Order: sequence, then structure tokens, then C-alpha cells
Amino acid sequence: MLKERTKIAVFVSGGGTNLQAILDAAAAGNLPDGEIALVLSSKADAYALERAKNAGVKTAVVSKKECGSQESFEAKILAELEKNGIEMIVLAGFMSILSADFTGRFPRRILNVHPSLIPAFCGKGFYGLRVHEAALEYGVKVSGATVHFVNEIPDGGEIIAQKAVDILPGDTPEILQKRIMEQAEWILLPAAVQTVAKELRER
Ligand code: GAR
Repeated sequence: MLKERTKIAVFVSGGGTNLQAILDAAAAGNLPDGEIALVLSSKADAYALERAKNAGVKTAVVSKKECGSQESFEAKILAELEKNGIEMIVLAGFMSILSADFTGRFPRRILNVHPSLIPAFCGKGFYGLRVHEAALEYGVKVSGATVHFVNEIPDGGEIIAQKAVDILPGDTPEILQKRIMEQAEWILLPAAVQTVAKELRER
């Protein structure tokens, strides 16, 4: 018999448009094997929390600053995950790096979306608009997005999906960010979440 749907936590820090894409996919029936059971934010004022509340999804805030150390930050996160029976994690604009101890507990169960074609413009220090600034500064003509499993190497886990997006004359980091979100991130991420949720459910 098929297990319950895979319980998913989405980790956020900011606007949460990728979270919204996952919530919209779920509402449209495109996440049949997963349930968004928790949205966990590293920032109390993240707009992503509003999106979760509007969708009736449980939220938690774990602030690294208030925790003082990486160990206590991750211990608090783990406690939230255990409390909610979470089996799979999606990093959707989550701006904190997780330790090897943390990622090692969830092999092939943590997904991340990164706004470039990995291995370009990735790793420590490359997040949010900075990624697009770096791509424009380098002068590449194509960028895109990558969804990958998370391991102990920042942006270094196995790639699940990638999509290329053109860079056009006159692009600013903001314009490029929006195009990559619309044409790649918001499509790739919900699809990958369903694929992995299904795999875990069928185990
Ligand atoms: C997205 O573009 C995501 O790919 C990026 O931050 C943005 C978050 O936007 N993530 C990284 O740079 C991770 N290294 P959102 O909060 O609207 O989803």
C-alpha cells in the first residue's frame, strides 16, 4: 500500500516567490505525492511567511542571530522538523548555509534552487541578486537556474534539473533575476519537488 504523502518543509528567508510556485503547484493538483507541512524562515519579517499563512500552511521562524551559533540554529531547526514529521526539505531562497552534520542527516532529501547554471556563479557568497550581478559582469550570454540535491558542499550536490535563459542587451541584475525566475525557477522547482516526493513516497 502507498504511504502517506511525503511531508515537506520549505525553508525561506525572503520574498518567497519560489515557495509561491510550489504552493500554486500543490493547489493545482501538481504535487500529488507531497504535502507542504511546514514553512520555516530564518527571518521573522520574510514576506514568504505571509504566503504560507495565506495558503494555510504552518510556519516557524528560527533566527540564526538569536541562536548565537550554527549548532544551536540547526538544533532548533531539527526540533521543528521532528515535531512536524518532516521527511524532505526544499531550500527556496534560504540564505543560510547548512553544516555537513545537518545535510548528512537528509541524504537526497534536501533540494535547493540556485539562479545560475551550476557550476557557474555558485558556491559561498553567490546568492540572490549577487549571482546575476556576477553573470552580467562576466558577460555571459546565457544563464539560467539549477535545482540540485544539497550535500556538504555549497551548491555542490547532484544536479536534478537545469534550464538555460538568455541574457539580453540592457539587462540589469533585477531584470535578469525576474526572467530567470519566470522562465526557469518557478517551473523547474515545483516539478522537481513532485519527482523527489514521489520517489520518497514509493520507497
Ligand atoms: C531565488 O532567485 C533563488 O534562486 C535564490 O534566491 C532567490 C529567492 O527568491 N537563491 C539563491 O541564490 C541560493 N543560493 P524567492 O524568495 O522569491 O524565492
